[in-house]
Amino acid sequence: MALTDEDLTTVQEYGIDPINPGKYETLLTDLQGNILKGHGREYSVHLFLQFKADKTEQAKLWIQKFAHKYVTSAKQQAEEAERYRKYKEKGSIFANFFLSRHGYEYFGIKSSRTPRDQPFRSGMKNESVKNLLGDPEIEKWDLGYQEEIHALVLMADDDVVDLLQEVNRMSPELLKVAEIVQREDGFVLRNGKRQPIEHFGFADGISQPLFVKRDILKDKYNNCEFEKWDSRAPLSLVLAKDPNGNTEDSYGSYLVYRKLEQNVKGFRKDLEKLAETLGTSEELAGALVVGRFQDGTPVTLSSINASSNTNSFGFEDDLEGLRCPFHAHIRKTNPRGDTGRVGSSVSYEESLATEKGHRIARRGISYGENDITKETSSGSGILFLCFQANIENQFNFMQSLWANQNNFVQVKTGHDPVIGQQEKTQKWPVKWGEPATKEYKFTTWVKMKGGEYFFTPSISFLKTIS
Ligand code: HEM
Repeated sequence: MALTDEDLTTVQEYGIDPINPGKYETLLTDLQGNILKGHGREYSVHLFLQFKADKTEQAKLWIQKFAHKYVTSAKQQAEEAERYRKYKEKGSIFANFFLSRHGYEYFGIKSSRTPRDQPFRSGMKNESVKNLLGDPEIEKWDLGYQEEIHALVLMADDDVVDLLQEVNRMSPELLKVAEIVQREDGFVLRNGKRQPIEHFGFADGISQPLFVKRDILKDKYNNCEFEKWDSRAPLSLVLAKDPNGNTEDSYGSYLVYRKLEQNVKGFRKDLEKLAETLGTSEELAGALVVGRFQDGTPVTLSSINASSNTNSFGFEDDLEGLRCPFHAHIRKTNPRGDTGRVGSSVSYEESLATEKGHRIARRGISYGENDITKETSSGSGILFLCFQANIENQFNFMQSLWANQNNFVQVKTGHDPVIGQQEKTQKWPVKWGEPATKEYKFTTWVKMKGGEYFFTPSISFLKTIS
């Protein structure tokens, strides 16, 4: 029997267990991996494809073969991870295959069978989408992204040599039907303690919506029964029915892909100046910008780096933003109930539920310089990927109505200094815990270099595309 709306929209106490999936077996076998849980591999290669004009039938056959040989299901991902934990058995190369709206058009798939999400159908180059997100002119994007993109192949592995060899092995067949218009090579950047970090030096990937039993049990234990923050999410946060799936439980997810270049030199210089202006340490200045210290300690809990990358916190004891500014990156992108506390006309619970509906499953990876002692001003950054069920209500909402907005969560809060794409003047506290009085204006540290919206089709569709 097909899964019901309730199966998808209910937050389950222990999430779903891909090892013992019960009624979710068909869903997890037909759903691509990386959506409900990041693939977790150290290296990945992203190939942006434009299929050749006269090769539609051959391209379909290539996709069928690629799906059979490489594309990893959610179930296979979990089983391989389990075998690795138990027997240290290395898993296969991880792979995803995504289609853009142009891809659906290229294959002549009818509009009624093309995923419906509006931004997906418009594409990231659409003028109004670009304006909404505050993106640069397309002529400034990396060249490949300026092309019409039909599909994206993601391959990942812990062994970079195995990965590159496999990409080389499968490329000749691919090149008969498609041009690779852009290629990105990603890797997990790590600090001295082996924590995954991004180029500004901050621990990343700490707070995520959780769907899977293992993740939920771990978080429940670390987070004192979700006393302060409940990370669990219903499947409907990221899944959308695949109109072309061959089973009654065929689902996919919308992927937002953005290459975000980080100006590390500019960031450090600004931090130095901000620290000087506030008469505080650069460490604390950085924490006020991000909302966490470099090691992940939330600044709302501590004025010093306390080696605690906990996700068990809210902002209920920091109602005026005196410890974690309202414009700090993690407070902008996850206000943890602020919308219900700051002038909302509906109940706190209702506001929180709406707020949680804007969450995204982040699956980004770094690119560029991998020596963390080097301060680059260009050529390094995040290959930002995130999954969701509704782009307009999730990524686009978060970027345009939260991060880019001066007046969220309050009038004159200021933009998110990390990803806000406008002028950035914010007020800063001179001392942690005291009202923000000093104004400081940053340069833009993060530049969008190109991207596209994709759908992640069910595996049964990819295996039989005809
Ligand atoms: C180069 C660009 C970016 C950098 C350097 C960056 C950095 C970070 C860091 C250091 C964290 C804290 C670690 C964590 O909680 O996982 C974080 C969290 C987060 N970021 Fe970003 N980020 C970037 C882009 C984005 C974009 C484009 C979005 C979405 C519009 C976004 C949304 C989030 C969200 C939702 C969280 C988790 C907040 C929470 O639940 O507490 N980030 N980011």
